[in-house]
Amino acid sequence: MRVGMLTGGGDCPGLNAVIRAVVRKGEVGYGDSFVGFLDGWEGVMDNRSTDLDVERCRGILPRGGTILGTSRTNPYKVDGGVARCLATLRSQRIDALVAIGGDDTLGVAHRLSGEGVAVVGVPKTIDNDLSATEVTFGFHTAVQIATDAIDRLHTTAESHDRVIVCEVMGRNAGWIATYAGIAGGAAEILVPEEPFDIDVICAKLKNRHAKGRFASIVVVAEGAVPADGSLTLASAELDQFGHPRLGGIANVLAGEIEKRTGFETRVTLLGHVQRGGSPTAFDRILATRFGIAAIDAVHDGDFSTMVALQADKIVRVPLSEAVSVAKQVDPDLLHGVAEVFWG
Ligand code: F6P
Repeated sequence: MRVGMLTGGGDCPGLNAVIRAVVRKGEVGYGDSFVGFLDGWEGVMDNRSTDLDVERCRGILPRGGTILGTSRTNPYKVDGGVARCLATLRSQRIDALVAIGGDDTLGVAHRLSGEGVAVVGVPKTIDNDLSATEVTFGFHTAVQIATDAIDRLHTTAESHDRVIVCEVMGRNAGWIATYAGIAGGAAEILVPEEPFDIDVICAKLKNRHAKGRFASIVVVAEGAVPADGSLTLASAELDQFGHPRLGGIANVLAGEIEKRTGFETRVTLLGHVQRGGSPTAFDRILATRFGIAAIDAVHDGDFSTMVALQADKIVRVPLSEAVSVAKQVDPDLLHGVAEVFWG
């Protein structure tokens, strides 16, 4: 078969491991040839591609990013975008497409499957907010990076007896904040799922510091919002999928904490450091399993599906299910585990 592949949305450690696995199993196991579309759906729209084979994929397993490039382009938001995608797939004689991405990229894949495109999805996002899979690759790498950073923030915060607000990624869900906060011993974790009350946070910090020299690390997900509108957040620019470009809640929060408590407070925004660099062993293995399962699904003719991890087995779920609901942080994890160590 002639199989097209693309990576869309924010990049994520492990994308290259998926590409390598799809190509390896496809070429050696099934005799497939591959076309790699560049920069996500943009490359499909513009018919920009590169040949992919086992030789081209040598050495990419531990490399972060994606050799195919990525973008947040949405063909459904571009005049004639969908027709251009279909024309490219026809002219390139693509029998099946493997789309590697988060809810946006897979949402487009799902809509294109309604136009007759034979597509299999592979879930990707450091945010871990796709509902049909227990975990996405890239998440564990991001959590490890954030945890390492929090460990470092602890020693400097302790030396100065300061509060440090550490902002991590997580637009709609606070998985990175919760995991890294638990692993790093955060004094407070703020997530998008539960709007925060600045008065409550400051009271808890005062209580904690009243007991002696207690440096505090407050971990906040970039998508966290204040409960009562008491803090004003600048409105953000939107991308083609309608998502705001976030980043900066920690600055607002830190200023407010310092003003209300009198504790010296500093800010660290981890930003794209969390998405860069080499995937952890866990993410390399998950990405490899997903890649092999995706090309197997192509050869089973099991299209309009996404590969997913459930009970440590790789399964196939309908794409419609994969993109329907964002997976939110389990309140039991946040309150039953993380909160035991707050205040
Ligand atoms: O891919 C998800 C994500 O990492 C979010 O956590 C974050 O809000 C967003 O991407 C940042 O996107 P960009 O790199 O386009 O600024």
